[in-house]
Amino acid sequence: MKEITAFELNENILNTVGREWMLVTAGNEEKFNTMTVSWGGMGILWNKPVAFTFIRPQRYTYEFIENGDYFTMSAYGHDYGNALKFCGTNSGRDTDKARETGLIPVFDEKAPYFKQARLVLVCRKMYSQDLNDESIIDESIKANYHGNDYHRMYVSEIVKVLVND
Ligand SMILES: Cc1cc2nc3c(=O)[nH]c(=O)nc-3n(C[C@H](O)[C@H](O)[C@H](O)COP(=O)(O)O)c2cc1C
Repeated sequence: MKEITAFELNENILNTVGREWMLVTAGNEEKFNTMTVSWGGMGILWNKPVAFTFIRPQRYTYEFIENGDYFTMSAYGHDYGNALKFCGTNSGRDTDKARETGLIPVFDEKAPYFKQARLVLVCRKMYSQDLNDESIIDESIKANYHGNDYHRMYVSEIVKVLVND
């Protein structure tokens, strides 16, 4: 893969996250986990290129993100729709997602991703905050939180961007 800067990334991240979906992967060579996300984004905050990631506390991946300083967000193209569906409907607590999907883990110096990725964002956690009931302005949002399982929002510096060359 080729390293570019976040500013050189030439795609609509709304489509990447929202329609193609991405994998959020955290941990190390000894133990790691991955899950699918279709909410989140990229932008500028505190003068840095950042990623916004929203993870519910019951996800196994949440533990890995909490326990490390880095994680990756990666995209695979629509051909990997079934693999991403699998990673978004099964938990690493009871399945080996890499083995089941054929995704091959690659361990960057900071965090894992998978060899088949076409785009990798290496993210360094800068800020996290749990969404909460009191902060809701649009009541319709509440329909997403019947279980009171408010997402934890992570704002992370995008420290590396890799694209398929
Ligand atoms: C298309 C899709 C998008 C998803 N987006 C998110 C998300 O943005 N945040 C989240 O917490 N869970 C999201 N999920 C749910 C997790 O991917 C799912 O619960 C997964 O099985 C968690 O795996 P884990 O327990 O191994 O971490 C999504 C699932 C799918 C299928």
